Amino acid sequence: MKAAVYRSYGPPEVLTIEEIEKPAPKDDEILVKIRASSVNPAEWYGMTGLFLARLGNGLLKPKDTRLGVDYAGVVETVGKDITLFKPGDEIYGARSGAFAEYVCVKNHIYPKPANITFEQAGSAAVAAMTALQGLRDHGKLQAGQKVLINGASGGVGTYAVQIAKALGAEVTAVCSTRNVDMIRSLSADHVIDYTKEDFTNTGKRYDILLDIAGSRPWRECKRVLNPNAHYVIVGAPKGNRVIGPLGFIIKTRLASLGASQKVIFFVASFKREDFLLLNDMFERGQVKPVVEKAYPLEKISEAMRHLGTGHAKGKIAVTMR
Ligand SMILES: NC(=O)c1ccc[n+]([C@@H]2O[C@H](COP(=O)([O-])OP(=O)(O)OC[C@H]3O[C@@H](n4cnc5c(N)ncnc54)[C@H](OP(=O)(O)O)[C@@H]3O)[C@@H](O)[C@H]2O)c1
Repeated sequence: MKAAVYRSYGPPEVLTIEEIEKPAPKDDEILVKIRASSVNPAEWYGMTGLFLARLGNGLLKPKDTRLGVDYAGVVETVGKDITLFKPGDEIYGARSGAFAEYVCVKNHIYPKPANITFEQAGSAAVAAMTALQGLRDHGKLQAGQKVLINGASGGVGTYAVQIAKALGAEVTAVCSTRNVDMIRSLSADHVIDYTKEDFTNTGKRYDILLDIAGSRPWRECKRVLNPNAHYVIVGAPKGNRVIGPLGFIIKTRLASLGASQKVIFFVASFKREDFLLLNDMFERGQVKPVVEKAYPLEKISEAMRHLGTGHAKGKIAVTMR
């Protein structure tokens, strides 16, 4: 089978398509023919060899040469202990090594909602889970609260706008001019075009600031926060090659010491109950994954380069034949 493989750290060109052995499912596994995956910034950091990523995957070269986490596809065969799925079922979820034609999966397997495409389902796991957990678990979002989402137009942001609305928030989304209409179409209550207006200078206050872009320092962000607000850091600019976005997070944590607001950074984790909730939101049409473009697996380097610009409009999918 074909899979994207990287044998050294570097720019997107280090990702090449190789012919490798097709995996065989164990008794408690499912072999999935992947139809779509998507690129996430975590894969960018893994590929380029951010020092922190190298600590986990080899200092000089990657020990695990495969990338990709989000997947959507069709069950090809099942191990003898599998009773809930059968060949032909359409499923999606999360599994490492998903930039490939096949993977074996044991956990995080969910029926693909019929009203979303493989590209949409294959763009869901990381970004949607992050948006949900950031708002609900770390932002402590309650219906009726005012939420500001900075970085609303990318992978995590387009899910966050829709999930915050589904959870009953009044949503203000920050994005650039070219994305204003798209964000309005996701039902944001207010949109701030960051090329024309500074969200930290509007005089408005929010209960939650979900900061996906990390474009403004704490001393400015705190101006728009209610005294008991939650400031949830999801992401930050790429930063240097050693600690990357962690620099922004450390700086913010230090600068906010003693503040009345709660400042939180978190890393999303895959939880069955959260997948089920997201599935429900997809099926009800409350959340529709936004996919800007789909690249065939053979063009995975282009997909990564697109993500690396930092200006994706929703998710960037990778498709397999
Ligand atoms: N904590 C976690 O568990 C977790 C999980 C997933 C991702 N993340 C992090 O979250 C961040 C975003 O991930 P993503 O997948 O959403 O990335 P993405 O798809 O590449 O989106 C980036 C978005 O940021 C927007 N942006 C860039 N500069 C901006 C600015 N100055 N103000 C407002 N928006 C700006 C871009 O919109 P324009 O084109 O309009 O500028 C683009 O839509 C990354 O740092 C990633 O590492 C964290």
